[in-house]
Amino acid sequence: MPHRVIAAALAFLSLSSVPGLASPDGAAVYTSARCFACHGQMGDGGVGPRLAGDRMLAISQFVAARILLGTSVMPAFSDNLKDEEIAAVATYVRTNWGNQFGSVSAADVQATRKLLGIAEPRTAGSK
Ligand code: HEC
Repeated sequence: MPHRVIAAALAFLSLSSVPGLASPDGAAVYTSARCFACHGQMGDGGVGPRLAGDRMLAISQFVAARILLGTSVMPAFSDNLKDEEIAAVATYVRTNWGNQFGSVSAADVQATRKLLGIAEPRTAGSK
């Protein structure tokens, strides 16, 4: 019997790591937040800089801060994306198109928010 319990627990754990169920999918956020419109579907740039091979992406807090604050051209996403979504899209740009800069967690984004003095989004929990 204990084996069945363990098997059920493992099945639950693997299910909860499927992207889109437990955590947002970075590729989906890259599309829905329209990052691709400025940075290219393949991270090759356009209005915004090329992200493929961009060594600034090695600095995870810079990536999170840029997404939270935006720039004169790039919109700020601090109110529109949850920390989990920012972490997912930051991870996506850091680990695709040949980039190997590793993942960013929601806790990292929360820490960056604190550093920047930005509150949690009011929309947290919705969407
Ligand atoms: C309207 C166009 C636009 C959209 C939409 C946009 N960006 Fe940007 N992004 C820019 C521009 C322009 C810069 C360069 C800003 C600067 O250097 O001052 C930039 C900079 C960045 C940088 C820093 C790159 C570097 O080397 O300086 C990252 C990372 C980034 N964007 C990610 C994203 C992500 C992720 C999204 C979607 C959540 C997104 N951007 C949406 C235009 C855009």
